[in-house]
Amino acid sequence: ALITLRQLLDHAAEQGYGVPAFNINNMEQGLAIMRAAAKCDAPVIMQASRGARSYAGDIMLRHMIQALSEMYPDIPICMHQDHGNNEATCLSAIRHGFTSVMMDGSLEADMKTPASYDYNVEITERVARMAHWVGASVEGELGVLGNLETGEAAKEDGSGAEGKLTREDMLTDPDQAADFVARTKVDALAIACGTSHGAYKFSRKPTGDILAISQIEAIHARIPDVHLVMHGSSSVPQYLQDLINDFGGNMPQTYGVPVEEIERGIKSGVRKVNIDTDNRMAITGQFRRVAMEKASEFDPRKFMIPAMDEMEKLCLDRFERFGTAGNA
Ligand code: G3H
Ligand code: 13P
Ligand code: ZN
Repeated sequence: ALITLRQLLDHAAEQGYGVPAFNINNMEQGLAIMRAAAKCDAPVIMQASRGARSYAGDIMLRHMIQALSEMYPDIPICMHQDHGNNEATCLSAIRHGFTSVMMDGSLEADMKTPASYDYNVEITERVARMAHWVGASVEGELGVLGNLETGEAAKEDGSGAEGKLTREDMLTDPDQAADFVARTKVDALAIACGTSHGAYKFSRKPTGDILAISQIEAIHARIPDVHLVMHGSSSVPQYLQDLINDFGGNMPQTYGVPVEEIERGIKSGVRKVNIDTDNRMAITGQFRRVAMEKASEFDPRKFMIPAMDEMEKLCLDRFERFGTAGNA
């Protein structure tokens, strides 16, 4: 059955677990997530970006989610809009059956320029008010995702923000977070702690100076009842970098967020953990392997099946390590 983000994260907070939020663009990703969840009895958050919605189409996504919940009637599913940029994106998602939306007012609607605090409060409050009228949940974001080593804001759309930011500019401030949640009434709050989207998060295994889990602890101490969200939470595991590079890929060495650091976050109020890149790498790695090992193969299912298996394995691991398993 479909449930809201609020319902799911309230349960997660009560029981002390975290829920991975996996991005979905197509049927294969949906099947892989649901197979992993069914194997370990985990509730699911599936999220579609604006890019996913234009890739698959809203009608296709709506029916896909319906189909997945019919196929797995015992697994609760929250269907969430990832990084909504304005009211129209969020409201049209709800109209297409999403039970939850992210209004990301940390950036202007172009999704490139860091927004003012007042803009963020105003637009997030407005979306939360409307979403709550019709029973949907809302995630807001405060702080700037980006690299604490370089002071560069996250290049979410490839271009990045102008100028360098200081550590204080980027990391979410606990007092401001308390004010933001009180004023907007969001159901969950995405915070910035040094992570960024994509594969190239850190140039070395992150330590506390560049991955500030301590900031999450400080925010949680200030607002213990608020469900926190960690974006940019792919671990970019070495075995997937190797899989891609062993079969003709060319990804420079990189480091993601170690799963044990996410586990620390979950002990401090992180309830939703956004993961897209790891699954992209799982799929692409298997595509590359099949393409090179079986150069005469042309049945797409022969590529898709190992890709789905690799993604299922990754999802299952995260359900187990985040404590989601057994909570469906
Ligand atoms: O926020 C980033 C997610 O990985 C979604 O990426 O906008 O390319 O679908 P996308
Ligand atoms: P990754 O790029 O680390 O998978 O993060 C995804 C994300 O935060 C989607 O909102
Ligand atoms: Zn994100």
